[in-house]
Amino acid sequence: MSSKAPQAYEVKELGGTPEQEAYMRDIIDQFTVDTKYLNQIRDHFIVEMQKGLEKEGATVAMIPSFVEGRLTGQEKGHFLALDLGGTNLRVVLVTLEGAGKFKTVSSKSRVSEELKTGPMRNLCDYIAECVDTFLTEQGLEDQEMELNLGYTFSFPVLQSSINRGTLSTWTKGFACTGAVGKDPVLLLQDALLRKHVPVKVSAIVNDTVGTLLSNAYNKPETLAGLILGTGANGAYIEKIDKIKKWKGGKSTSDEMIINMELGAFDNERNILPLTRFDNKLDRESINPHAQLYEKMISGMYLGEITRNVLTDMIDRELLLKREIHTSFAWSKDISRHWSFETAFMSNIEADNSDELSVSKEILDTNLNLHDITTTEARIIKKICELVGKRAARLAACSISAIIKHCEVGPEGCDIGIDGSLYEFYPSFEARMYEALKEMHPEINDIEKTIRLGLARDGSGVGAALTACVAARMEQTA
Ligand code: GLC
Repeated sequence: MSSKAPQAYEVKELGGTPEQEAYMRDIIDQFTVDTKYLNQIRDHFIVEMQKGLEKEGATVAMIPSFVEGRLTGQEKGHFLALDLGGTNLRVVLVTLEGAGKFKTVSSKSRVSEELKTGPMRNLCDYIAECVDTFLTEQGLEDQEMELNLGYTFSFPVLQSSINRGTLSTWTKGFACTGAVGKDPVLLLQDALLRKHVPVKVSAIVNDTVGTLLSNAYNKPETLAGLILGTGANGAYIEKIDKIKKWKGGKSTSDEMIINMELGAFDNERNILPLTRFDNKLDRESINPHAQLYEKMISGMYLGEITRNVLTDMIDRELLLKREIHTSFAWSKDISRHWSFETAFMSNIEADNSDELSVSKEILDTNLNLHDITTTEARIIKKICELVGKRAARLAACSISAIIKHCEVGPEGCDIGIDGSLYEFYPSFEARMYEALKEMHPEINDIEKTIRLGLARDGSGVGAALTACVAARMEQTA
């Protein structure tokens, strides 16, 4: 991953009119979060984490995952994993080889908008069909014994055991009917039975918990797992006696992984630096007033925030001003919700050519914006930078909150991160480190102490490891 910051333009360098410059100065002001503000957000975060550990129903839910204890790296065996919750559905066959090594084979399919918002039964039938096809492809369809499957279901599930729970609400654009308040494991198991697929759902796991586990498989100092992709969330290892609301009874360890569901942080709007562009996005979203923090820091939303700024500029005749007869065609695509993808931001930010020809090409091919001027491209790039940088800095607040709450000492810790934003967005990691440095002047070498790293395939390998932990817990219970 490159840690080189993309070339940034200052307002004067954009080459715009005085009106454009004035607008940009105001936008910069609105999207800039300084060190003092970062610290305030972090402190509020710690308070909210505490509330979640004390009682049910808190905004930051702090859900016990029922995954107890730590890994040794020696775990072995074949497991099936299913990953639902991002853009794709994945079925994975994981072979844990011990010594922190593993192999995976997987198949991927897109979940249509219709399935995401239709009856839950249809979604489960579709998943069962994908599992069935995968087993056939892998020659596993005639197993004598049922295969154990770890189900990475990346939504807020209030768990009552390692393979039981109820969905409390949908997030990230999913809205299937007949699922909230129900157990996703039972719904899937029923669909598998209907299709006679010889698979037992033996664990349900959030993607953040999976990411933590997959990172811990070869980095034993792992404290937390984060997802910075379509959605955003975190999990970390907590002492059970600090989980005041825990009524789970006897456990096999004094530690448990907590799925924070941090995307809901500050739904009350007490501290986050919300702009009118964030408010518009929230109001027009499928889940208004929910997941406010997630909406400022995750891949599903960053493009839309950027689009909101761009359309505001267009409305004020500060951008894409053209002759009357062409203006309608110009604004058609950019006026459409979600048309400006976060991936475009990534590519525009990475564009360091003189005339920003790559950015112009992106805008032309994807949004039919022909003949963009270099000044316009610079302005658009600057807006991407502001939205992207704010996201990284705000995301860093949650890391700072976790390490402060857990009183991480000078030995530091590892934090596994998965998700397209972290993996592909230029400088996302560098900007997070920058913010962490500002929030932790007491740490000398931040990169060596708070060791962020890409946890590949947290959802697949993590689910397999959870199935493994489930078996271990069963043995020792
Ligand atoms: C959403 C979900 C959460 C998940 C995250 C990342 O915030 O509610 O469970 O971990 O997205 O996929």
